Amino acid sequence: MLFSLSSLLLSTIVTFAAPPPNAGAVVNLRIEGEQRTIFEGPIFTRGHNVTTKSGGNHHCDGTNNNENLKPGPTCTSALDDASKRKNFSFDGTYFPEFDDFFITSIGGDTQTDTQFWAILLNFQFTPVGGCQQQVKWGDDILFAFDGFGRAHYLKLSGPKVARRSRPVVLTVTDGETGSAVQGATVAGQTSDTEGKVSVTFSSLGVKNLKAERSDSIRSNRLDIHIVA
Ligand SMILES: *[C@@H]1O[C@H](CO)[C@@H](O)[C@H](O)[C@H]1NC(C)=O
Ligand SMILES: *[C@@H]1O[C@H](CO)[C@@H](O)[C@H](O)[C@H]1NC(C)=O
Repeated sequence: MLFSLSSLLLSTIVTFAAPPPNAGAVVNLRIEGEQRTIFEGPIFTRGHNVTTKSGGNHHCDGTNNNENLKPGPTCTSALDDASKRKNFSFDGTYFPEFDDFFITSIGGDTQTDTQFWAILLNFQFTPVGGCQQQVKWGDDILFAFDGFGRAHYLKLSGPKVARRSRPVVLTVTDGETGSAVQGATVAGQTSDTEGKVSVTFSSLGVKNLKAERSDSIRSNRLDIHIVA
């Protein structure tokens, strides 16, 4: 009696706890173009069909090429949702052997013979294409133009609040390795050997900061509220 009651309870919990298929997720999507950030922010996505001019209409839910058993949100489904939300274009050719798109252009930045769009998930190159690679809540997805063989994939961190006319120290690291990056510029200042950069603001409000270095992919945006 006790056993059957507890197993009933357990099966009820399991039934309620099991997420519905392809429930979707909010991910942090960042698209670093050649000269500018094309998109950066949270986006809700679930696996769905994606249509591109050069590639046509194909599923994009991680079951591509039998990479996953169940459909779910992917890197490229997030790109597609962001492009619709913010009205920027992207294109990709479709490769039947991978059952996936190869992204060729985003927001007007089109690949060349030597510069391609790379996809990184949590600062690591994805081992498979963007419709095969499923993502989870809170994942960091990065599409980077000319994104292969760069010195660093920059990450900028620091306090969210700082006082006016007082120096605030930020840190530039390589997102993949966590090591300090020297020689990156943030708000006109340059990071030192420990990746530290000191910046001072004379006006109030929110400052949107990014770290850049010519041989590297620019960083995430750090928003600092400057208060009196
Ligand atoms: C989605 O794409 C698949 C091919 O990957 C196709 O068979 C299916 O018909 C498409 N579904 C819709 C609703 O367009
Ligand atoms: C989206 O962008 C296209 C091309 O730039 C433009 O023609 C269209 O009006 C835009 N739509 C919205 C809703 O902004």
